[in-house]
Amino acid sequence: MKDVLTAPFMVEMIRTTTNMYAHGWDERNGGNISLLLDEAEVKEYLDVTQVLRTYEAGFSAPSLAGKYFLVTGTGKYFKNVQYAPDVNLGILRITGDGEHVELLWGYADGGKFTSEFPAHMMSHVERLKVDPENRVVMHCHPGNLLAMTYVHDLDEVQFTRTLWQMCTECIVVFPDGVNVLPWMLCGTNEIGFATADKMKTARLVVWAQHGIYGTGKDLDETFGLIETAEKAAEIYLKIAHLPLVNTITDEQMHLLEQRFGVKARPGYLN
Ligand code: 13P
Ligand code: ZN
Repeated sequence: MKDVLTAPFMVEMIRTTTNMYAHGWDERNGGNISLLLDEAEVKEYLDVTQVLRTYEAGFSAPSLAGKYFLVTGTGKYFKNVQYAPDVNLGILRITGDGEHVELLWGYADGGKFTSEFPAHMMSHVERLKVDPENRVVMHCHPGNLLAMTYVHDLDEVQFTRTLWQMCTECIVVFPDGVNVLPWMLCGTNEIGFATADKMKTARLVVWAQHGIYGTGKDLDETFGLIETAEKAAEIYLKIAHLPLVNTITDEQMHLLEQRFGVKARPGYLN
């Protein structure tokens, strides 16, 4: 059996959490990540018949039965993952009934998966329907996007259009736009269902006055998706109080669609 700390998925998770902390997106225990793992790959590193603990999921996700995830722990700090991955991360398997979670590795101090587990698992369910390649659900608290939810209309078309107008490449990176949830109590099944519902039509879901969720096929791509939206929000906050002299027009957005072979969310451009 190979050392799980050398597994590419583990190395990438450690690098990503460290980088997210460095970006200021994950103060204290802020943020959480779940990464869908390949069963055959997990078996290279772990005896998957050895279950350390079993938890109640608190919801039912039968379509995830038998699937393996690497998940950040609740209350754990992204800045500490690199120093103690086995305390701050866990490798989990969803049981056959889709209602329990088996711990195969990690949470070595007796810990548990993130409190946002419902939003993560329900989002995996929905994104896998849209894109069978989706593996990552990432949540964090980037300052500019968060600030934007205090001063910008939360209408999804308006919010998306503003972000697209802030940097030329935004429409190329997230042509599906950004969906927005109003403030809701976090860590609940309710916000989990609401987030997953928003994931049917976009890979980015803003939680007003809280943070953002991004999804993608790998950690790098998902990080880049959030990074791009956060950069746009930063530009917005730099200019929102100034007279607007220039912008990216819808005509120019259509040129970007053609040049990069993307299609903007229907109805979002004139
Ligand atoms: P956890 O520490 O439970 O992952 O919660 C952090 C967070 O960002 C809640 O939304
Ligand atoms: Zn949060």
